[in-house]
Amino acid sequence: MKRLLFTIVLSITFILRSSADEGMWLPLLLGQQVYNDMVKRGLKLSKEQLYSINKPSLKDAIVIFGGGCTGEIVSSEGLIFTNHHCGYDAITSASTLEHNYLRDGFYAKGKADEIPSSLSVQFLLRIEDVTQMVMDSLTGLTGIERIQRQTRAINNLNAKFSDASQFIEARVSSLFKGNQFLLFVYQRYKDVRLVGAPPESVGKFGGDTDNWEWPRHTGDFSVFRVYMSKDGKPAEYSEENIPLKPKWFLPVSIRGFKDGDYTMIYGYPGSTNRYETSFGVKLKTDIDNPTLVKLREVRLKYMFEEMKKDPEIKLQLATDYASIANYWKFYDGESKQLLKYDVFGQKKKAEEVFINWAKGKPAYSTIFEDWRKAYDEWRPYAKHRMYINEGIFGSPLIAFAASLQQIETALVQQGKTAAEIKKALDEAGKARTTFLKNENKASDEKIVADITMMFYQDVDKQQHPIDFYRTQVQPWGKLDDEQTYKKYARHIFETTMIFDDAKWNAFVKNPDGNVLQDDPAYAHASAFLINYQSKYSAKFQQFSTKNIEYGRLYLKGIMEMDTVKAKMMYPDATFTMRVSFGNVKSYRPRDAVFYDYVCTMKGVLQKYIPGDYEFDLPAKEIELAKKKDFGQYADKLKKDLVVCFITTNDITGGNSGSPVIDANGNLLGLAFDGNYEALSHKIAFDKDLNRTICVDVRYILWCIDKLGGAPNIIKELKLVK
Ligand code: ARG
Repeated sequence: MKRLLFTIVLSITFILRSSADEGMWLPLLLGQQVYNDMVKRGLKLSKEQLYSINKPSLKDAIVIFGGGCTGEIVSSEGLIFTNHHCGYDAITSASTLEHNYLRDGFYAKGKADEIPSSLSVQFLLRIEDVTQMVMDSLTGLTGIERIQRQTRAINNLNAKFSDASQFIEARVSSLFKGNQFLLFVYQRYKDVRLVGAPPESVGKFGGDTDNWEWPRHTGDFSVFRVYMSKDGKPAEYSEENIPLKPKWFLPVSIRGFKDGDYTMIYGYPGSTNRYETSFGVKLKTDIDNPTLVKLREVRLKYMFEEMKKDPEIKLQLATDYASIANYWKFYDGESKQLLKYDVFGQKKKAEEVFINWAKGKPAYSTIFEDWRKAYDEWRPYAKHRMYINEGIFGSPLIAFAASLQQIETALVQQGKTAAEIKKALDEAGKARTTFLKNENKASDEKIVADITMMFYQDVDKQQHPIDFYRTQVQPWGKLDDEQTYKKYARHIFETTMIFDDAKWNAFVKNPDGNVLQDDPAYAHASAFLINYQSKYSAKFQQFSTKNIEYGRLYLKGIMEMDTVKAKMMYPDATFTMRVSFGNVKSYRPRDAVFYDYVCTMKGVLQKYIPGDYEFDLPAKEIELAKKKDFGQYADKLKKDLVVCFITTNDITGGNSGSPVIDANGNLLGLAFDGNYEALSHKIAFDKDLNRTICVDVRYILWCIDKLGGAPNIIKELKLVK
């Protein structure tokens, strides 16, 4: 009996403790929901210091960086730290063959050297609950009408609370699958300049081989600065602008930490779907993910062949390649982990509980039966849709050609004025210039050839564009022969007007729908596009509408089922500010294997492969590392330079660049990745295996100071020693 009691007590504390790391908490509810737990775990700050709308607080140091990352302010002069892969496009765009900052790194020695970018950053001003306002306009509505009305209500609120002249933007976020609506008000600053970045061999050390994996030895950071107008307001870029005076900035701790120490992460997780259904998991692992993965593999293979050969092509394709590769590996790993942990089975169990509860409740009792039907109806077309998005229009040429559809429409439609047609052509002309600048024909032609054949072999023949293969491809040979597709692609690339200025200009001068329809790139794009648009996109619309509808009801039901638990729920990630708390923690990925909580310079040297595409390093790094010249940045415990570390925090894509903050509000490092063993994290958080991979701020400072020779940047920081 005694023993039984003991085990019960043990298991309760185990549940409380081990589940505490899951959660992407809304900053405005921290006080109510988890503040006490945070304190128990080691936090030393007050609620007001974490989030306040009246006084400056920690949240004021956190920014949305660019389009999909997080950054943090680390000095009184608007200095920003974020990841190298978040600054990647800005670094690449600033690079030329003569000044190859991507390859060699870059540090501004003074403010005058900083390089303007097209990036902006956004500070969160406040959050307001507008659920009632949105819901009032939705009473009695379901399905597509509800979705449309909701979109309108949200757009109205966004417009009402935004003010372009003051760079204020309001965005309502739909949380808990449309059961709650919060308005987030941001202030956008548009003058953001590149201050520094390590060489790519450091910033992306380990490349795609190490991506999404621990142990990791990547210096994934870059440095920017945000500027404001002389009178202290957000402004477009101007030489007159001055560095931002922030409301809050993070002191930087070079004290180090040990396994188990408290960590919290503020940032902008992009998306999760923790209430995904068993049907959704199955569609993902059976069809969606494997199809995406194999199509991306083709694109990556041909892009890489060209990038490897020529530094200019490398710079041209680097950004696209990195983003395609990142989620290629992610979705492959996600499928593997979903299957390994039987997430399908886990979801089924949770659904059974719900279905039992829902019996006799008309609002909920048929959801899962209806939902299953919706999936069954959509399933036969899912692969086709993936082929369209990731294959056919994964070719940059074909994607651009498809964008000319509006010109065709304008030309063949009655009643379009010459001015309207000219406007469409002018826009297409501009888009064409951008397209040509980024286009690598050699890889793209191979992509078109391979994907056209894969579609033929892999997608249900009844879904093929009618007569397309017979009339367009067969003239080049047998439909099962690779050579046929090569010749067909050759023909497209040789004769399309998109690559031919003379033909393009003649078309613009004398636009004719027939000429466009006869263009082989356009004909190709249009065959697949029209086929999909006319037969399958409506089916997808219906499916998504039902998915949204049942998802909303499912979550509503879950919250009704257990009202106490409902108060402690966190909403799925929606690229809105969240806080996650946990601690530094080693782990055991599989039997007999132990992963330490830090990686050090010793491991960097072990991975180093001179001349390798992914594992090469700057000569100076090797020299300093061999001398153990780590200065004040060395870790006393490990007697080495700590490079990366792992924590139990719950984050996802969008959190990249997020600050990892200690119990006192100081910066310990930047989150930049998740571990392979928990790649199913968007759908199910694994309490034992989930880790956030972070670059240690001491490695960042060492790279800037010792390797980069830019002590001017270090001087700006508030170091906690
Ligand atoms: N997996 C990281 C993320 O999504 C990106 C890491 C970038 N590095 C790379 N080798 N692609 O945040």
